[in-house]
Amino acid sequence: MAPAFPAEFPVNSACQRCHPAETQLHERTRMAHAMVPAAQSAFVQNLPDRPLRESDQGFEFRFSPTLAGIDVTARRGNEQATGVIEWVLGAGAQGQTPLIEAGNGAGNGVLESRISYFPRLHQYGVTIGQSAGSSATAIAALGRLQNSRDLQSCIGCHASAITRDLQPVAPGVQCVRCHLGADQHARNGGKVLNPGKLSGPEQVRLCGNCHRTKPPVDDSQLENVRFQPLRLVKSECFQSGKLACTTCHVAHQDARRADPAFYNEKCRECHQANSGAKVHADARNQGDCISCHMPYVELHPALHFTDHYIRVVQPGDLPASVLRTRPAAAQN
Ligand code: HEC
Ligand code: HEC
Ligand code: HEC
Ligand code: HEC
Ligand code: HEC
Ligand code: HEC
Ligand code: HEC
Repeated sequence: MAPAFPAEFPVNSACQRCHPAETQLHERTRMAHAMVPAAQSAFVQNLPDRPLRESDQGFEFRFSPTLAGIDVTARRGNEQATGVIEWVLGAGAQGQTPLIEAGNGAGNGVLESRISYFPRLHQYGVTIGQSAGSSATAIAALGRLQNSRDLQSCIGCHASAITRDLQPVAPGVQCVRCHLGADQHARNGGKVLNPGKLSGPEQVRLCGNCHRTKPPVDDSQLENVRFQPLRLVKSECFQSGKLACTTCHVAHQDARRADPAFYNEKCRECHQANSGAKVHADARNQGDCISCHMPYVELHPALHFTDHYIRVVQPGDLPASVLRTRPAAAQN
């Protein structure tokens, strides 16, 4: 959860001076942009000229820029609700969902927008997790009301510092979220956490604060494949004690898309002759390990994940209908 910090809280500019390389790399990651001002979002930049509309004679949505952000109005006949979008969540690889501050007559509160943008499909659609079809009321058409606990956890995973009234002063996942103690360290050279020095289980817990180590419902849900820490810890490779997120992911970089060779090399670093770990005696030893042992799963046409439960996948483990071939190039 993002703690409430004063506005002078040192964000990345406080690190730039002494750690320019890490700061510049991190700035280009999706994590750094997991929450963006409305005007900078793909959600706003791709809005079509004609209004968006729900199916089944539902509500019509109109968006217009203002000083505070983007105004949104949901209208059907004489039913109408308005709100303002200041922040959009999601860097845009998979989806972008605005937070809407409900305006006049709607009752004050923050809503998770009913409309999201799905870059992979170049389409706007109903936010995943909300029901399809036409909405019962104008306010329901705008989105789902977030109580302050929901909102705090939502911003808590997508921002790095918030004020007491839940305004982000440091949107996105910034240095301090992984480098605990970095604020003191930047001020007076105190100790700072380097997650590269943590054991596998400790590092997985740190990343799992946001990527999740516990299933939201229970262990049988298919959507758990999106929670990499939860899945990874089931693997025998992880139970060896030597596997961490940074075995395969380079700090301050996104996942490597369309570069299976990069990851297969990591597998072979452990799975090689005389290491104690098993090795294929046939051509698979030169093959694409992740395509067989880390399935590529489509949870929704717009949302694709890599199952981090590394294993011999048995037929029926995952429904065949969600298994996809990892794209060889471009977006995945
Ligand atoms: C005035 C210069 C200075 C500033 C500002 C500064 N650092 Fe450092 N940092 C250092 C030096 C010097 C070291 C190496 C010595 C040490 O480990 O304390 C270091 C080490 C680190 C390490 C590695 C620690 C380890 O145990 O391996 C991390 C991580 C780090 N800094 C993060 C940050 C972050 C994040 C910020 C911004 C919030 C920041 N630093 C601001 C000078 C600075
Ligand atoms: C404060 C919450 C938070 C923490 C802590 C965190 N992440 Fe993330 N991470 C996110 C969010 C949110 C996204 C989604 C960014 C987006 O696309 O909007 C993300 C995305 C990613 C991605 C995918 C980027 C891409 O290629 O699309 C990787 C890889 C990743 N995180 C690895 C890690 C690792 C490894 C750690 C621990 C060292 C970690 N994360 C810690 C919140 C966090
Ligand atoms: C427990 C931490 C956590 C909470 C709470 C959370 N998110 Fe995220 N969110 C993430 C992480 C981590 C990712 C990256 C998923 C990935 O690529 O593996 C993500 C991804 C996203 C994305 C990109 C599309 C997608 O589904 O992958 C959107 C949009 C998003 N979150 C919106 C929200 C909104 C809106 C809320 C609150 C209503 C919220 N999130 C609450 C951690 C969180
Ligand atoms: C999502 C988590 C995450 C975020 C955010 C993050 N880092 Fe790191 N950082 C890491 C990890 C993991 C390592 C350890 C890399 C390794 O040892 O493989 C690391 C290592 C470092 C180191 C030590 C490098 C070394 O050679 O030992 C410095 C310095 C550092 N980060 C600075 C920063 C700064 C500055 C920012 C913000 C601009 C930042 N980091 C943001 C995860 C993160
Ligand atoms: C054994 C290697 C390996 C380890 C360990 C690993 N990952 Fe990954 N990760 C991958 C591969 C392979 C991909 C897919 C890259 C691509 O898109 O082609 C990936 C992709 C991701 C993504 C992008 C969304 C997705 O699911 O495709 C996130 C987020 C992520 N990893 C987070 C993590 C976190 C957090 C940890 C630690 C708990 C972790 N990973 C540990 C190999 C690994
Ligand atoms: C840090 C070392 C390490 C890395 C990296 C690693 N593994 Fe493993 N893996 C092990 C160990 C140890 C075992 C248990 C002994 C064995 O079966 O070889 C294991 C077991 C396995 C198993 C058997 C699991 C079962 O349930 O029978 C498979 C399959 C596997 N690894 C595939 C992979 C793939 C694919 C990668 C790369 C994406 C990978 N491993 C990366 C250490 C590692
Ligand atoms: C074409 C799919 C495929 C590819 C590619 C592949 N594997 Fe496998 N792997 C399997 C299957 C199926 C099994 C189950 C036992 C068998 O058929 O030999 C298996 C078993 C394993 C085991 C466990 C062995 C045992 O006897 O329990 C390990 C470890 C493993 N693979 C690692 C890897 C590594 C590392 C790579 C890449 C160098 C890789 N695999 C490439 C399909 C594949």
